[in-house]
Amino acid sequence: MTTPLEAIEGLWLAQAMRHSLWLYPTVETLHLWGIGLLFGSVVLMDLRVLGLAKEIDFTSLSRFAVPLSITGFCVAMITGLLMFTTHASEFVGMRLFVIKMILITLLLTNAIALRAQSVANGEHSGFVKLQALISIIGWASVIGAGRWLAYT
Ligand code: HEM
Repeated sequence: MTTPLEAIEGLWLAQAMRHSLWLYPTVETLHLWGIGLLFGSVVLMDLRVLGLAKEIDFTSLSRFAVPLSITGFCVAMITGLLMFTTHASEFVGMRLFVIKMILITLLLTNAIALRAQSVANGEHSGFVKLQALISIIGWASVIGAGRWLAYT
C-alpha cells in the first residue's frame, strides 16, 4: 500500500524535479532568494527594536519591511515544500529537518507576537527586545539547519 509520503514523492512535479538536471537547483536558488528577502528585512526591524538606528521611525520601517518579510517567507515556504516532495520520506526521518520545521513554527508565532506588541507600544520593553534577539538568532539557526541538511 502507498503511504501518504510515497504518494507525495510520486507527484508529477516531484518526479520532474528528481529527473531534471536544472529544476531542483533552480528551485533551491529561489529558496535562497526568499530566505535573503525574509532574513534581510526581519533583521532590519529586529535591530531597530533592539535600539539601533533610532533616527528611523519604526512604524515607517515596519510598513516597508513587513510585506518584504511576508513575501520572502512565502517564496521560501513554497520552494521548500517543492524540494520536500522529492524525498519526503527521507526528510521526515531527518531530525534536523524536523527541528527546522519546529523552529520555523515557533519563530512565526514569535514574529506575530512581536509585531503586535511593537505596534501597540511605541516604546520597546525589555521583553520585546528579547523577542527581537530570539528572532535574529532563531532565523539564523533555521538558515544553518537548512544548509546542514545536505550533509546529514
Ligand atoms: C515550510 C518551509 C520550508 C521547507 C518545507 C523547507 C525545506 C527545505 C528543503 C527540502 C531543503 C533542501 C535540503 C537539501 O536539498 O538537502 C531546504 C534547504 C534550505 N533551507 Fe529550507 N525550507 C523551508 C523554509 C526555510 C526558511 C524559512 C529558511 C531560512 C530562513 C530556510 C533555509 C534553508 C537553507 C539555508 C537551505 C539550504 C540551501 C542550499 O544549500 O542551497 N528554509 N529547505
